[in-house]
Formats: sequence, C-alpha cells, structure tokens
Amino acid sequence: MSFPLVRMRRMRRNETIRRMVRETTLSVDDLIMPYFVRSGTGVKDEIKSMPGNYQWSPDALVDECKELADLGVPGIILFGIPDHKDSEGSSGFVGDPIVCQTVELLKTKVPELCVITDVCMCEYTDHGHCGAIGTNRDGNPDVDNDGTLELLVKESLAHANAGADMVAPSDMMDGRVQEIRLALDEEDFQDVPIMAYSAKYASAFYGPFRDAAESPPQFGDRSSYQMDPANLKEAMREIELDEVEGADIVMVKPALPYLDVIRWAADNTDVPIAAYNVSGEFSMLKAAAMNGWIDEKRAALESLLCIKRAGAKMILTYWAKDAAKWLAE
Ligand code: PBG
Repeated sequence: MSFPLVRMRRMRRNETIRRMVRETTLSVDDLIMPYFVRSGTGVKDEIKSMPGNYQWSPDALVDECKELADLGVPGIILFGIPDHKDSEGSSGFVGDPIVCQTVELLKTKVPELCVITDVCMCEYTDHGHCGAIGTNRDGNPDVDNDGTLELLVKESLAHANAGADMVAPSDMMDGRVQEIRLALDEEDFQDVPIMAYSAKYASAFYGPFRDAAESPPQFGDRSSYQMDPANLKEAMREIELDEVEGADIVMVKPALPYLDVIRWAADNTDVPIAAYNVSGEFSMLKAAAMNGWIDEKRAALESLLCIKRAGAKMILTYWAKDAAKWLAE
C-alpha cells in the first residue's frame, strides 16, 4: 500500500480555503493607539523620528480621537509632555497635569474611547529617569525604587481622578503594581484596572520615543530597572509577580524581538497579554517604506498579525489608526 503524497499546497490554493483554515486573525478590536500630549491649543507638531505621529494639544486630539473611535479602535494610551520638569517629576501629579486635562476632555467628548494613561516619571523628571534619584552604596546617583513608589501612586490617583479608564505603569520599579492597586482601591477606584508593563526590556528600540516624549536619560541608562534582553526567566518572574500584585493585564515590550516572551506569557498566565510594538519597530519600517524599500501596509499588518500569533491579546501600536483603515478596506 502506498501513501498519498501530502500536499500542503492544496490548502492554500485559493483565498476562500485560506480564510477557512487561518489560525490567527487581526481585528481592529486588538489595537491601542499611543498619543503624546502637551499644553497649548491647536497644536499638532509632527515628531521627526516617527513620521505620521504628532505631539498634540488636548483640543486638537479630540477631533483625532473622534476619527479613531469612528474607525472602531477601542483604546488609546496617553503620554504627557509637561511644560516644566523637576527632579521628582511633580508636573505628572501636582496641579492639573497635561494628561489629566486631556483625559477629562476626551472622556466628555469621546466617551466611548477607552483612555489608558502611561504612569511613569521619565517624561516629567529633569534627569529623564523613570524614578526619583537617590544615592547607591557606591555613593553614585541611582534610581530610588522605594522612594519612587509614592510618586507613582500620586500620578495614578491623579489619572484615575481625571477619569482614566485604566492606568499603565511603565516605570519598572519593583512593588509598584501592589502599591497602586491598594491606593486605587482605598480611593474607591476598584473599577480602574492596571495594565502593567511587566516584561519591559532595556531596549534600543525606544530611541524614537525618547525624541517624541523628550525624555532621554541625562546620565547613565535604564539597565538597573529595565530588563536584560538576554533573559527569559527573568521575564517569567516579572510577569508572575505583577500578576500576584494585582495586574489585570500584563505587557511585554518591545514586541517583535521578544515574540518568545509573549508566547511564554500567553501559555503560562491567565490574564490578557498586551504587547507594545514600540517606536523603533515602527520607525524602522516607516523609514524603509519612505525610501520605497518595503510595502508599509503589508509589512505593518504582517508584524501585527505575528504579534497576535505569538499570543498577544492586544497590541499598542503607532499603526493602530492606519491598520484600522487597512482592515476595513
Ligand atoms: C516610559 C516609556 C517608554 C516607552 C513607553 N513608556 C520609554 C522608555 O522606557 O525609555 C517606549 C515606547 C516606545 O518606544 O514606543 N517609561
């Protein structure tokens, strides 16, 4: 008896069959669009390193977000660029921070949009680090993990007070998810979930973002609090800890060079996994596309689909708006 030749190709013969056997789908529901906000009116300044992305004033962002919501994109994440920076990043939580102003406006004008806020110090500190600075055992300046927690709590509460639907701490200080959860619950924000940047690597792929958020560290780097790209087991511990501390969603960041981490998280945790398709991943393709070297739409949709295939439930991506249009074509 002879076996028939296995022909994998017959399942790819036409688009209808391909559709029927497709294992992963990308939907507009999976997308979260990042935006950068600063004070002013009518501001829409293009970010050089991220073509097609802008620093917005709150009023200008309203129209943009209406468009985004009409396209069906469910959520956005906000990053603030303050007028003044200081060593404690106080413009992130004192007075009427730019992110809070924006949240309030968006929740009145575009209530259907889920507004997530990035909680971190680096946009607001004059030294550009993600936490307050103390002194380490060698007498050198270093990020003070425990001293930063109360600042992150204040920032989270300010965002929740303004009406944020979800807070997303991106600082990578140990213990911050628990502190933020306890404080939110105490202030009657039990319904505000935490999306934790859990496995956040010390990555060169954040380069363009630091330009956008005007937040490069003024000394040293972030390797004492962000993760070593060489490590997977460390990511497992970070993710498990954040889950135990009360994270409702855990994030892996960046996405494309870390698909194995996303896959591990998807197989081993029961909370939804978010992946951040970061600025460098975006700008690389964008630059190639602008040179005519790559088809942006195909390459972007392929990237996003592959991030989903790896196990992400949702993707933070600068292509969210474009992808929503492409998916509707
Ligand atoms: C702030 C923060 C960063 C990003 C998101 N939140 C920068 C950093 O940690 O240096 C990067 C996002 C991107 O590159 O698109 N802590």
